[in-house]
Amino acid sequence: MKVTVVGAGAVGASCAEYIAIKDFASEVVILDIKEGFAEGKAMDLMQTASLNGFDTKVVGSTNDYSKTAGSDVCVITSGIPRKPGMTREELIGINAGIVKTVSAGLIEHSPNTIIIVVSNPMDTMTYLVHKTTNLPKNRIIGMGGALDSARFKYRLAEALECPISDVNGMVIGGHSDKGMVPLTGKAIRNGIPVSEFLSPERLEQVSADTKVGGATLTGLLGTSAWYAPGAAVSELVKAIALDSKKMFPCSSLLEGEFGLNDLCIGVPVILGKNGIEKIVEIDLSDAEKAKMIESAEGVKKTNGLLEL
Ligand code: 2OP
Repeated sequence: MKVTVVGAGAVGASCAEYIAIKDFASEVVILDIKEGFAEGKAMDLMQTASLNGFDTKVVGSTNDYSKTAGSDVCVITSGIPRKPGMTREELIGINAGIVKTVSAGLIEHSPNTIIIVVSNPMDTMTYLVHKTTNLPKNRIIGMGGALDSARFKYRLAEALECPISDVNGMVIGGHSDKGMVPLTGKAIRNGIPVSEFLSPERLEQVSADTKVGGATLTGLLGTSAWYAPGAAVSELVKAIALDSKKMFPCSSLLEGEFGLNDLCIGVPVILGKNGIEKIVEIDLSDAEKAKMIESAEGVKKTNGLLEL
């Protein structure tokens, strides 16, 4: 499998690193507009190969899309990250132009690619790729829910004072501080609902901490996070590469599913060699449904700022 990662900043480099280190891809191309930057990151990563034990070839490219030709999966991380105090939605003006140009360049050289969108505001950027390319809907995936769910599991384990491997849970909805819908009622510790161990108030705190997971890190780091976004992307790409049919919450174009239409928002999907193999319409409680509707309204409001 050949994978392209556009953007050699912290998130893009982290995506490339985790994909390479997991050793399921034959080649990873990193592309960036900054002269020599992607080549430098690629060379540095290649010099970890003997130490970390991977055979994936990592190649850099300064804005030469011909090097990305024949990519099975392309990951778009390019654009500006948010600074402390900013919302993801505030990035729309600059990032929309970048994502549009980048997706056109990628598809010109890899017409059969699957695109994973990471750039923010992610749900709106995913919708933009749908609106401005002719890729089928199963081949456009927004990364957000997989990251938000990883942050949810971190907070659940913290509250339960248990190893993260003991817990499972999912965050659906928009990838925004207000729009995320952590499914606390469905989260489990080794098959047991976490509500057996945590009070409603503590669970509410877990949910609140999860929703501002990215903002908390932006406050600490001065820019947006990269390790968990990179790791989340690598898991999505791996599921596609191995045709594993694993379930992740991903931003997907909805056409009636969950009662929603004409937007991309995080819902459970099955990932395999065709990208989104299926949207899984789980049953939501009335409270979860109400939160999902509110989240969708927020995403649609941001979509309304796009100049399509
Ligand atoms: C985050 O939540 C970058 O949106 C990404 O960290």
